[in-house]
Amino acid sequence: MTAKIQIAASILNADLGALREAVQRAEAAGVDRIHLDIMDGRFVPNITFGLATVASLRSATTLPFDAHLMVAEPSYWAARFAAAGCETVAIHVEAPEAHAATLQAIRSAGAEAGLAIDPGTPASALEPYVAQLDFGLVMSVKSGFGGQLYQPEAAARCGELRKLLGPAAPIHLDGGVKVQVAGDAARAGATVLIAGTALFGAPSMEEAVRELRAAAAAALGGS
Ligand code: DX5
Ligand code: ZN
Repeated sequence: MTAKIQIAASILNADLGALREAVQRAEAAGVDRIHLDIMDGRFVPNITFGLATVASLRSATTLPFDAHLMVAEPSYWAARFAAAGCETVAIHVEAPEAHAATLQAIRSAGAEAGLAIDPGTPASALEPYVAQLDFGLVMSVKSGFGGQLYQPEAAARCGELRKLLGPAAPIHLDGGVKVQVAGDAARAGATVLIAGTALFGAPSMEEAVRELRAAAAAALGGS
């Protein structure tokens, strides 16, 4: 049975001066999850928002929060974002740390633990951590900024990751996701499509969510 494709709204491309409204707008438009891009200005040349913002947004919705940590020291931050109310926390395998203890700390904090891979990082980089992973996150753009073009090579890495994680683990696909690539992503094994610009830049977010879901379902032979 094919896992139902979920749509996650990345609020990085929303009005960062009105994030509560952005989260509630995404929920009203029918998304399944809220994707929170946390950037430290070191791992990526960009800074977004932190623990206090996430904790404040927690009361804006009951939708699951997915923290995507683009930070140089995930060991310091990961469990803190779980404690701030994130159901899942993904850290980057490229961060210059050993990750086993951090993945364990995320789970001990009650969240699902994931590893993210940037373009150019093979899925095999996650092999040493498979026993500690609840999900994977495949970047289809270089992490750091929204509004970039989807890199089609991400589909192959989704496929590799699916083989590594087995049939049940969620695979989040992140970056440049729009209706034209949703089918490709779903066929490759992605089960959570993360979209920022495609949703917050759409004339109708509800329509954009519906179109993304329909394109993914059609690619999997569903309706
Ligand atoms: C990029 C972020 C993505 C991105 C998604 O570093 O991880 O979540 O903001 O936004 P779009 O859909 O505009 O690429
Ligand atoms: Zn992200």
